[in-house]
Amino acid sequence: MKVDIFPTKIFRYHIEDHAPIKERVEQYYEEHKLETSTPEGWNCNLFTTFGTKMFPIVECMEEFGHVFDEFQDEARIPGNLLLTDLWLNCYDRTNWQDKHIHAPGQWSGVYYVHFDPNEHKGTQFYHPNETLLACQGEEQNTIIPWVTEGDLIIFPAWLEHSAPMNKSSKLRSTISFNFLITEEVYEGGEFDPEKLIVDGGVS
Ligand SMILES: [Fe+2]
Repeated sequence: MKVDIFPTKIFRYHIEDHAPIKERVEQYYEEHKLETSTPEGWNCNLFTTFGTKMFPIVECMEEFGHVFDEFQDEARIPGNLLLTDLWLNCYDRTNWQDKHIHAPGQWSGVYYVHFDPNEHKGTQFYHPNETLLACQGEEQNTIIPWVTEGDLIIFPAWLEHSAPMNKSSKLRSTISFNFLITEEVYEGGEFDPEKLIVDGGVS
């Protein structure tokens, strides 16, 4: 019997009101695609606003808020969520991004703004023990989760990932972001015995 312990989880959600954000990204990319270059040290080829803080964060936040609430419930991580960075990536034909992590960081996400599952590949994740497994003869050390346009995935910032080359003439664009969840601090208040009752008080 083989049992996987310490599995890594990623979370997938969907942005319901996707169209306005897609339209905004198209407009932004058309206006800015000739302005920026790849950040120093990145071994890749794409348009990115990483490090510029130029892409408008506010316009995404309402939709992201619903996803963050669902994520904190599902992952059982209560606390105050702080978005620390957000940037736009646009991949025209032959563009790609090399394997990397989002350090320093706690959680990261990718939102697929322009994405055709018949033409594009999703984010490729690498097993944390990739080299160990390779030495043991395992050849399948990466996973590309199935995603479609409007999907948003959340993963631990330490998990290595890459964006496979876009071989399509259709634009592939993503909004990437990092966030922290800080511990909730009890600030006093009335004692409420109702909050201590679980499943109607049966224990
Ligand atoms: Fe990334």
